[in-house]
Amino acid sequence: MMNNIVKHQFTVSKQQRNIHKNHNAFLIWFTGLSGSGKSTISNSLEQALHNSGIHTYTLDGDNVRTGLNNNLSFSAKDRTENIRRIAEVSNLMIDAGLIVLAAFVSPFQKDRENISKIVGKENFIEIFVDTPLEECERRDVKGLYKKARAGEITNFTGIGSVYEAPTNPNLTIDTTQCSVEDAVMHILNYINPKLKLKNG
Ligand code: ADX
Repeated sequence: MMNNIVKHQFTVSKQQRNIHKNHNAFLIWFTGLSGSGKSTISNSLEQALHNSGIHTYTLDGDNVRTGLNNNLSFSAKDRTENIRRIAEVSNLMIDAGLIVLAAFVSPFQKDRENISKIVGKENFIEIFVDTPLEECERRDVKGLYKKARAGEITNFTGIGSVYEAPTNPNLTIDTTQCSVEDAVMHILNYINPKLKLKNG
């Protein structure tokens, strides 16, 4: 399929786009169970970054699955394809100069390793939103755990389908122990040095 494809060398470089925006670009990836707080933390983080003049974009499971990935189910194969496409989209957005925030259950270790390969290890910040299943189920914001327990959703992550916790994430956030504000501060402290351009 890759035969006869020759990449064009465009003259505006990634580095020039970064200089234009006055910050580096990379991917902040949130993984965790449904209802763990990924989207909530990601949203507050994006707001804080946006307020300080950083160019951002958020990709979120429920949103992307209504558009780009609306032909994908929750089978293991389709979840892998879901994550691969998001990683490729993120890679383009990083090239465009954006801080990309992505909030996906992304339950499989091999799929998360693939993200790192696609965007480059140096551009991938993995944040494990480590909220225990019992707490996610107690919150049950979308009523999906109830449906899964009733057998109406067969392969729901944490109940009918496995969640493989990251073994070496850049950051781990336990939302039973810290507030959204604390989580955002923690992440900002981690990423602030990475945002700064060399010689900037
Ligand atoms: S992933 O596993 O492929 O990474 P993704 O993050 O895109 O999942 O979508 C997860 C969201 O879809 C959940 O927050 C939940 O609202 C909804 N959902 C519906 N069915 C399932 C399921 N079987 N497992 C997990 N989430 C599901």
